[in-house]
Amino acid sequence: MNNTLTTIILAAGKGTRMQSAKPKVLQTLADKPLLAHVLDTCQSISVDKTIVVYGFGGDQVQQAMTDYSLTWVEQTEQLGTGHAVKVALDELPSTGKSLILYGDVPLVSAETLSRLKQANVQGMSMLTLTVDNPFGLGRIKRDEQGNITAIVEQKDASEQEQAIREINSGIYCVDNALLHQYLPNLSNDNAQQEYYLTDIVKMAVADGIAIAAIEPDYEFEIEGVNNRQQLAQLERKWQAKLVEDLQVQGVQFGDPNRVDIRGEVSVGQDVFVDINVVFKGKVSLGNNVTIEAGCMIKDSQIGDNVHIKPYCVFDDAQVAQGATIGPFAHLRPQTVLEKNTRLGNFVEIKKSRIGEGSKVNHLSYVGDAQIGAGVNFGAGAITCNYDGVNKHQTIVGDNAFIGTNTSLVAPVTIGQTATIGAGSVITKNVEDNALAIGRGRQVQKDNYQRPEKKK
Ligand code: UD1
Ligand code: CA
Repeated sequence: MNNTLTTIILAAGKGTRMQSAKPKVLQTLADKPLLAHVLDTCQSISVDKTIVVYGFGGDQVQQAMTDYSLTWVEQTEQLGTGHAVKVALDELPSTGKSLILYGDVPLVSAETLSRLKQANVQGMSMLTLTVDNPFGLGRIKRDEQGNITAIVEQKDASEQEQAIREINSGIYCVDNALLHQYLPNLSNDNAQQEYYLTDIVKMAVADGIAIAAIEPDYEFEIEGVNNRQQLAQLERKWQAKLVEDLQVQGVQFGDPNRVDIRGEVSVGQDVFVDINVVFKGKVSLGNNVTIEAGCMIKDSQIGDNVHIKPYCVFDDAQVAQGATIGPFAHLRPQTVLEKNTRLGNFVEIKKSRIGEGSKVNHLSYVGDAQIGAGVNFGAGAITCNYDGVNKHQTIVGDNAFIGTNTSLVAPVTIGQTATIGAGSVITKNVEDNALAIGRGRQVQKDNYQRPEKKK
């Protein structure tokens, strides 16, 4: 018995109605190409071989999918779904089963595909659904015992057949032996003069094979994307599902319709997410995390009891418990905030560690720096980390006090409990416990007369 599982992903359609220079399967849903959704799902169910049938924009599609191990087959002319699978036969193992999927039907779930595979006992199973408006889709014909006998396309359907509301999703699990046997015998003798993949159902039935059918848990799993409107609608349905999953895990949303999850978010208890927050990539949120309105959180780990005020942007940041951040803070890649740090208004941090309990409260830039614990970084104080060619490190010891509007010209080290006078430009290292002041002395000219305008 050969149990290999292959997927054949049809992706040759041009997607003319998207009005895009990009092939349709590279359009994104939840920030990920449509095709990548399908490929990730295949990976999660341990598919042995993935064949992608491509047509337009093959180079672009292949370049975008180099993270995956794929077998590419070109279909130069789109002569129908049956023809598309037929061109893949050379690459299809002679035994085992295949899932037939579509590059523009992105949201079929791993769970549904596993059930579909299980359902294929006699050689063929398919995913169908009874819908209110079946127009345009293939209809499932059943006999009096309820056995599937055929699929009839909209354009070939009689009036009676058009009344059938059970539709063909186009997704099947078929034994490879049957695909090898049936596909060379398809004809295009139908209303569209296409080679219909759906005709293999009739062929199997004639061979006495009972076709199993299952339904997906969600209708969106079988919905395809042909234009921008459908893409936007599917995005909304997917967002609603992701938000619901987080609600089930205990997250409270200011408004579940005004948050976007473009990646994976894991959560602790009692997380609150206010409106217009966008998550990207891999994000984890600890217990009691509050994220106020308008934040963008990408690839970041946020510890327990962290409070993020409105309009903050995080990209690749690690924030330990108890930190308070924002409003309007920008955490750029490789930012590490230790416990109970405070970042305030218009503060930018890049590739830096801020020690426990330290404060950077107003209008600062901290780049390429190691800031100790208990440091106060005054309003407008910045690290001058870049000399025009290279980046340099700034090190600030524990409990140092960096006066307002200081420029720390890197490379430079400020000792523990050192104090820097306001407005200083610090170019040399400062010893522990010292006071350093680097600014012009104040001058006073008494009874000064301002120039006057001549009349
Ligand atoms: C097909 C099914 C129909 C089903 C519907 C679900 C057939 C004959 N009909 O409809 O029963 O209800 O899907 O959406 O299979 N493609 C290729 N090469 C081709 C033709 C299509 O790669 O030569 C790809 C398209 O890019 C698309 C997918 O196959 O992703 C489906 O093609 P489409 O024309 O939308 O399907 P229909 O034939 O309308
Ligand atoms: Ca079509």
